[in-house]
Amino acid sequence: MEQEADSTVLITGGAGFLGSHATLVLLEAGRSVVVLDDFSNSRPEALRRVAALAGLDGWTATAPGQWRAGPSTGVSLQVVTGDVRRVGDLEAAFAQAPIGAVLHFAGLKAVAESVRQPLRYWQVNVGGSLRLLEAMTAHGCRTLVFSSSATLYGLCEQVPISESAPVQPINPYGSTKAAVERLLADAAASEPGWRIACLRYFNPVGAHPSGRIGEDPSGLPNNLFPLVSQVAVGRLPQLQVYGCDWPTADGTGIRDYIHVMDLAEGHRAALALLEQESPQFLTLNLGSGRGHSVLELVRAFEAASGRPVPWQAAPRRPGDSAVSIADASAAQRRLDWRASRSLDECCRDGWAWQQANPHGYGD
Ligand code: WQD
Repeated sequence: MEQEADSTVLITGGAGFLGSHATLVLLEAGRSVVVLDDFSNSRPEALRRVAALAGLDGWTATAPGQWRAGPSTGVSLQVVTGDVRRVGDLEAAFAQAPIGAVLHFAGLKAVAESVRQPLRYWQVNVGGSLRLLEAMTAHGCRTLVFSSSATLYGLCEQVPISESAPVQPINPYGSTKAAVERLLADAAASEPGWRIACLRYFNPVGAHPSGRIGEDPSGLPNNLFPLVSQVAVGRLPQLQVYGCDWPTADGTGIRDYIHVMDLAEGHRAALALLEQESPQFLTLNLGSGRGHSVLELVRAFEAASGRPVPWQAAPRRPGDSAVSIADASAAQRRLDWRASRSLDECCRDGWAWQQANPHGYGD
């Protein structure tokens, strides 16, 4: 039996980097969205801009910490300030509209921080997912796209990495993603009707081409792309290149950078498949299938921005691998989707966002 492909979608963490781009893509696909976000690592401004990009105007406050943009009938964006770990906040989100499906982005995602605060990462990422599943069950909603991560592969010898590669996380962040996938698999096996896709991202980068929404990490960024971007715009003095002695062509680490818009479109494709097909449990890599070194990315960003990105060699970062590239053929086959945007487009769009918003949404 097909799922309703026009029901409202709940997006947890919908104000975040990936969540805001996915919210926009779903609104533009004609789906109404309810966002549940505690704004601990995001800003309401992101959703104001998403609504504007989607052509939704007229924000109204509907309750403390709750807003709605858009007409009373037709596509709308509703926002609930709340934490997926709190049953009351989840109930408030499910009360906004009949929820047919959930995209679950809410969670903590900094590898180094997870090493310092493992219990917090398990509490938020696993505890929050457990509460969400309980709320979905209570509301008869069994269609879920989960924001997983290639980090759960750990140090994988086999490159490109396919979904059949061993799940062997080497940090608490990756462990929580693996644990939630296990939780989802058990839920899917226990009761009929679950439609679940675990999407394992490689390295999400870039921004919406309008330059209105993008990555806005709080504090010092953890990942290469926002660091390079902040050096180019002058917020940081120089980039530390973690290891120039890797067994790669130029000695620097190689990663699979995927444009955030490709990633958001991958979520829409995964949701469409789940709603069109019979109940199933899917695990798919979302990557470009192409690898680029740190120095290749630096040069591409300098070309896109016209700004220098000064760097200096630094020791390897513990836990890093030389090469991580996705085998994304399963997603291409099952979703009829592929990452189409190049590294140059990632840098062009990332720079458009950074240049227009030197201090992110805080400007
Ligand atoms: C990329 C390359 C570094 C910073 C992350 C995490 C996780 C995941 C995204 C969601 C590596 C090098 C980095 C710097 C550098 N997100 N680097 N100087 O480590 O591939 O993995 O991917 O799941 O956040 O798993 O991403 O951007 O940190 O590093 O030289 O200051 O850049 O050594 O080769 P990573 P990254």
